[in-house]
Amino acid sequence: MALLEAKRITAGYGETEILHRVFVKVNEGEIVSIVGPNGAGKSTLLKTILGLLKPREGKVILEAEDITGLDPDRIVRKGICYVPQTDNVFASLTVEENLEMGAFIRKDNYQNRIQEIYTIFPDLEERRKDRAGKLSGGQRQMVAIGRALMLEPKIILLDEPSASLAPKLVRLIFQKISEINRSGVGILMVEQNIREALRIADQAYVLAMGRNRFHDTGQALLNNQEVGKLYLGD
Ligand SMILES: Nc1ncnc2c1ncn2[C@@H]1O[C@H](COP(=O)(O)OP(=O)(O)O)[C@@H](O)[C@H]1O
Ligand SMILES: [Mg+2]
Repeated sequence: MALLEAKRITAGYGETEILHRVFVKVNEGEIVSIVGPNGAGKSTLLKTILGLLKPREGKVILEAEDITGLDPDRIVRKGICYVPQTDNVFASLTVEENLEMGAFIRKDNYQNRIQEIYTIFPDLEERRKDRAGKLSGGQRQMVAIGRALMLEPKIILLDEPSASLAPKLVRLIFQKISEINRSGVGILMVEQNIREALRIADQAYVLAMGRNRFHDTGQALLNNQEVGKLYLGD
């Protein structure tokens, strides 16, 4: 079943149209990667799905419910969480306070959830009392993802989770994303590490100049000669 669908999305900033009838779908249990050149509109698509940007045309459907045009806080409550590429932690707050901020709309006791997140990211438990601003880039990314998980979302939108990380940490972050997915959370992720992103994706989309360019399984796109030549430097 489709967990999330963005259908024929046209969106932009002011007069400028950036996305032209873009389509993306995430089925239950899937990791879906969106790749493509800088400026293709990948981040704009995530912002439109979250309601930070209102589409001019098209629909966003979550589990058969039309959520197009709702405000971001309503969309978050419905089970979509978002990790932006930059400025995604509160630097002056501790790791644990960051996680607590992620639970701000939860009325129940969320301490168990914090423990679950420490199970996924043991590093964070060790540093729970440290300010997030003092952490390494990889650990900050874990805080950002952990915070998004506090609301037990149905799906998380990740904007370049591996950006500016050393290769070893890139691998670790992708492993963690797979682990989170196996725990039942859908993943829609934008990535510059195209090869890694295709490798772990069930489905993947190449966006170029605001339009769908390729769509197939991650494996098929890895083996696609045209994709290889254009985007993987083959
Ligand atoms: N807030 C904004 N206001 C105006 N133009 C923007 C804004 N954010 C992005 N853009 C433009 O939209 C296009 C797509 O940007 P973006 O979605 O960030 O691409 P990507 O994430 O694929 O690199 C770019 O031309 C960019 O300059
Ligand atoms: Mg971007």
